[in-house]
Amino acid sequence: MSERWSPDSWRAKPVLQMPAYPDTAALAEVEAQLASFPPLVFAGEARNLRKALARVAAGEAFLLQGGDCAESFAEHGANNIRDFFRVFLQMAVVLTYAGAVPVVKLGRIAGQFAKPRSSPTEKVGGVELPSYRGDIVNDIAFTGQARTPDPQRQLMAYRQSAATLNLLRAFATGGFANLGSVHQWMLGFIKDSPQSRRYKELADRISEALNFMRACGLDLESHPELRATEFYTSHEALLLGYEQAMTRVDSTTGDWYATSGHLIWIGDRTRQLDHGHVEYFRGIRNPIGLKCGPSLKPDELLKLIDVLNPGNEPGRLTLITRFGSDKVADHLPGMIRAVQREGRVVVWSCDPMHGNTVSSTAGYKTRPFDRILSEVKSFFAIHAAEGSHAGGVHLEMTGKDVTECIGGARAITEEDLNDRYHTVCDPRLNAEQSIDMAFLIAELLKQERGSRFKPVPAAAGL
Ligand code: TRP
Ligand code: MN
Repeated sequence: MSERWSPDSWRAKPVLQMPAYPDTAALAEVEAQLASFPPLVFAGEARNLRKALARVAAGEAFLLQGGDCAESFAEHGANNIRDFFRVFLQMAVVLTYAGAVPVVKLGRIAGQFAKPRSSPTEKVGGVELPSYRGDIVNDIAFTGQARTPDPQRQLMAYRQSAATLNLLRAFATGGFANLGSVHQWMLGFIKDSPQSRRYKELADRISEALNFMRACGLDLESHPELRATEFYTSHEALLLGYEQAMTRVDSTTGDWYATSGHLIWIGDRTRQLDHGHVEYFRGIRNPIGLKCGPSLKPDELLKLIDVLNPGNEPGRLTLITRFGSDKVADHLPGMIRAVQREGRVVVWSCDPMHGNTVSSTAGYKTRPFDRILSEVKSFFAIHAAEGSHAGGVHLEMTGKDVTECIGGARAITEEDLNDRYHTVCDPRLNAEQSIDMAFLIAELLKQERGSRFKPVPAAAGL
């Protein structure tokens, strides 16, 4: 690996999953324009997230990362963003209260547009066209024009990210996320479900606790930590031309930061040591993620850690493991041991979505809720057995009432998939399934705490 790094040094390396733009002059023009636009996030925020993740690495907090598989231009509306944020807040509050642990809130949103594909082309009825690579690259419609990579889409993605982030910031700090509103985050369509009753009970207890504190003389309005929350954004930084244009020097430290989001991650398909993506990521100072699938060997992982976090800085690197419920026991223990043996500090997060995708009989891509949960459970059990901390989860989810993953408390069946299968990419947990998952994870967190902290002996005479 060369010593010198610059925002464009990745261009001298091989890169996978990059679209072939027919008009390179138009592409260069768009990249120059993007480079002149304001950053979406500020370096100081990325540092705050790094510090929060350092607490996760130390076992003092839990990471909740979630959002759409892919954002789309067609679904860019206030309702969509609000519904997602509401469910996300509900999950966070369930984990904070029932799991009794601070939660780092990280959306897979406001930049999650570019998708890796298993094949560069797609064939339908004898016609072969470039694969759809996400709305930042081309259009999903199966025509030659729609599938041609169009650089103008990067400008659209930038503006959509800015608008989405703006609304999320307003929600997070402007009153919507106030703990006093914990009852109002319920979505209409889940009012009568078992999850809603369970959630309402928990919200009642939070309200009671707040009322108790108020009665004790605490002025709740003067505590910003009750009124607001910190919400961060993340995406897979796949389209390196776009990322390079959004890479800026932080004037307060002189360091380079990716300003397209607070945390960005490297996909499982583009994590080759000598390739462009790893080269780009090593030079930016944001907290970063690395997706780890079954083909990643422990010694290769250690080499990647050396390159991506040479200073062993806590919170810098989150390993997002995605093996599949049937493979996690074969792969995760070896990785944990290798990392522990070398004294490396990482955040361990579980992506139980991408290793558990199956085809339904009718040909829908789906994910059984039970398999998703099973991978999460194994993740917790393996970390407990290895004396390591199960740091977080990475979920593909939506605030909408879709039918894309089968199972869950409402038992969505294969036949139901046809009703509301809306994803342009991978199947997502719907709102109910997401809240269900949060309650189940909160149980696992409680168990973990129970085994890590020795019970306090009952005080004599009290
Ligand atoms: N500020 C705290 C936190 O973010 C408490 C809090 C305020 C909160 N609003 C929230 C927690 C919404 C979860 C969801 O953890
Ligand atoms: Mn996906």
